[in-house]
Amino acid sequence: MRRYARITGTGSYLPPRRLTNHDLAAELAQRGIETSDEWIVERTGIHARHFAAPEVASSDLALEASKKALEAAGCQPQDIDLIIVATSTPDMVFPSTACILQNKLGANGCAAFDVQAVCSGFVYALTVADAMIQSGAASRALVVGSEVFSRILDFNDRTTCVLFGDGAGAVVLEASEQPGILASDLHADGKHVGILCVPGNVSGGQILGDPLLKMDGQAVFKLAVGVLEKAARATLDKAGLTDADIDWLIPHQANIRIMQSTARKLKLSMDKVVVTVDQHGNTSAASIPLALDHGVRSGQVKPGQTVLLEGVGGGFTWGAVLLKM
Ligand SMILES: CC(C)(COP(=O)(O)OP(=O)(O)OC[C@H]1O[C@@H](n2cnc3c(N)ncnc32)[C@H](O)[C@@H]1OP(=O)(O)O)[C@@H](O)C(=O)NCCC(=O)NCCS
Repeated sequence: MRRYARITGTGSYLPPRRLTNHDLAAELAQRGIETSDEWIVERTGIHARHFAAPEVASSDLALEASKKALEAAGCQPQDIDLIIVATSTPDMVFPSTACILQNKLGANGCAAFDVQAVCSGFVYALTVADAMIQSGAASRALVVGSEVFSRILDFNDRTTCVLFGDGAGAVVLEASEQPGILASDLHADGKHVGILCVPGNVSGGQILGDPLLKMDGQAVFKLAVGVLEKAARATLDKAGLTDADIDWLIPHQANIRIMQSTARKLKLSMDKVVVTVDQHGNTSAASIPLALDHGVRSGQVKPGQTVLLEGVGGGFTWGAVLLKM
């Protein structure tokens, strides 16, 4: 009998401060930066995003999302034997945000580490947790995507600062004889490091290089639409399924136009795509678990359905996870 890893609970959390495009445009205008609700909606589909208060860290958002996922799964922090946090905005250089979250949760003792694959982080983390559960190295994992991207945005660069938001999403993944994760497919191509990056680092007590996000939006757009279709097809092939078997596509929520293009290529109507980018913006590694939790709690995504998760982002990284809920 195959040992699967199954999602038994989902949770998410958004910091309370919500900025519509109008709110953000008014704030940027004070810096002499011009943008508009119309431009942002037309190019990205984003209407609003949430920003965390200055004292709130990724582990704080992760904690709230994790508590909800644990409650939905009907388990206690002590029942968890693995915590993986996907984040590009960790609390500290080290230790990992996963260790900080573990202590805040009171799940001390279990394995805990971060995965850094930017906006593909959650599909990478889920794939690692799946492999550890299938191998017997873990039985019940907490897999989290959590970001405070507002900390690394350049609010003098209107081409990037209107796109991102803060938030966290989490799942509990348990060993099961019942099908859960069916297949996954991960890739990276480091020659594209420069098209989406935060090039700075901490060295000798100082920040060396630029600590704010840089992006070549058009290069990212072109790469993303190509690789997302390939990853979807590869994952379906591995599971012996086709486009027609997908009940829900839950892609990384970066831009509605990228999502529409992926859906078209997979011959899926937008009715089968969970969309939260309009309300959350791009929350990087948090976007997929936030959208998954939204889908589950809104009653769209139901037990037994087949769901394709897809991530793409800096690195360049991309990947997909196909699963039964
Ligand atoms: C970023 C993105 C929305 C820009 O859209 P675009 O259609 O490529 O727009 P361009 O960069 O060509 O800019 C078009 C014009 O809008 C202007 N513009 C850029 N940002 C603007 C903003 N926030 N408000 C108003 N105008 C803006 C540009 O200055 C440019 O003006 P110009 O023609 O006078 O030079 C788009 O490239 C994109 O979505 N890329 C993918 C980004 C992404 O998803 N990244 C995360 C992946 S994980």
